[in-house]
Amino acid sequence: MNNFEFYSPTKFVFGRGVTDEVGQHVAKAGYKRALLVYGGGSVVRTGTLARVKESLSKAGVQFFELSGVRPNPEVASVREGIALAREKEADLMLPVGGGSVIDCAKAIAFGVFHEGDVWDFFAKKVAIENALPLMCVLTIPAAGSEGSSSCVISNDAIDAKFGVNSDLIRPQTSFLDPELTFTLPAYQTAAGVTDMIAHICERFFSGTGSSEVTDNIATGLIRTLINQAPVAIAEPENYEARANIMWAGTLAHNDLAGCGLNAVPTSRAGGWESHALEHQLSAFDTSITHGAGLAVMMPAWMRYVWRENPTRFLTFARMVFGIEPVDETEEAVCDAVTAAIDELQAFFAGLGMPTKLGEFGLKPENVDAFLITLKANKGEEFGGFKKINLEDARKIYCSAF
Ligand code: NZQ
Ligand code: ZN
Repeated sequence: MNNFEFYSPTKFVFGRGVTDEVGQHVAKAGYKRALLVYGGGSVVRTGTLARVKESLSKAGVQFFELSGVRPNPEVASVREGIALAREKEADLMLPVGGGSVIDCAKAIAFGVFHEGDVWDFFAKKVAIENALPLMCVLTIPAAGSEGSSSCVISNDAIDAKFGVNSDLIRPQTSFLDPELTFTLPAYQTAAGVTDMIAHICERFFSGTGSSEVTDNIATGLIRTLINQAPVAIAEPENYEARANIMWAGTLAHNDLAGCGLNAVPTSRAGGWESHALEHQLSAFDTSITHGAGLAVMMPAWMRYVWRENPTRFLTFARMVFGIEPVDETEEAVCDAVTAAIDELQAFFAGLGMPTKLGEFGLKPENVDAFLITLKANKGEEFGGFKKINLEDARKIYCSAF
């Protein structure tokens, strides 16, 4: 087990009805002017936004609104939000939605303190040194932004989707009301679960060893998701399934599932290869859902790299799927690892996720474009489990058609 630092300062307020408690928490924390941020309208249709507003009004908290944040949020919304936060002198960011809305609010939270353009942070020209506090109401368990230090924003003008990390943007309070997720379509439920499993796997295959306690947490979360996702899809209003998925999504990405697997104590565990490969897809075509892209790219990455450390993949096969090699021969190890990756991909497919890049309408000739933005994002080489250069990345993309 490697040395690590684990910092998860977020207060999680979880359960039925907590949506109506937002106002009292905001007021108790002393905030008076909240900037509500939301997406394309799901929170209006479901009545969630109205509930949050009512609770803010009851608690005497003023609020302002930024709407229309799209999935794979674009920097234009962030710029609009920064102007609004300044004009209204907001003292709290209050996104109501999923990862896209929360990430947009996070970028506004640090962007307001910067005189230049907010993209400077994503272009790594400036670092985050200050941010408005943020509380969020989660409506889709997936990205884990409700407990993470990450913020991912797209810039359509340059086909880029870049992330930044800072403990300053971890939410102060996150409201997790599983009943809000009853309205999620099956596709979004499935993409969310895929993203959670990817967050766990990126850490599990960090390339820097293992830890029994962390491996048990990680694989326990994955087994829970494998059990509960089909239930939530078959019965969208099954509270226990929705609740388990929601909490698993937070634990998948608040760094708990990576403790002791870090390369250096202060780093996040893992090389985040599947995410790097996926982000170029959803940057290239912003209609691609992040989790759906991962459903294709993660198994492709696994098939390409597992020989780097077969033992780690055998641990995964045994702890997640109960798969053991029949003997110690190379062939048996290959069969067991391949069976585990096949099972994982079949699980994603069974939830309705794609298995090939062609299902997004992508073509092999698009790979050159993915590699250009990958290089801009990650340089010539990246990865923890196995170093991936641009030629490796090309092979992984091509294997996914
Ligand atoms: O826009 P609306 O109308 O609200 O609809 C949303 C959106 O279309 C809909 N939705 C949300 N809650 C709903 C609902 N529909 C019905 N009922 C509800 N209760 O779901 C769609 C997807 O929402 P989005 O916020 O885009 O989903 P997700 O949470 O998966 O976020 C994806 C974004 O997060 C980034 C991804 O790259 C992507 O940009 N990530 C952020 C991370 C982080 N900050 O830590 C880590 C992740 O790895 C990821 O990269
Ligand atoms: Zn993700």
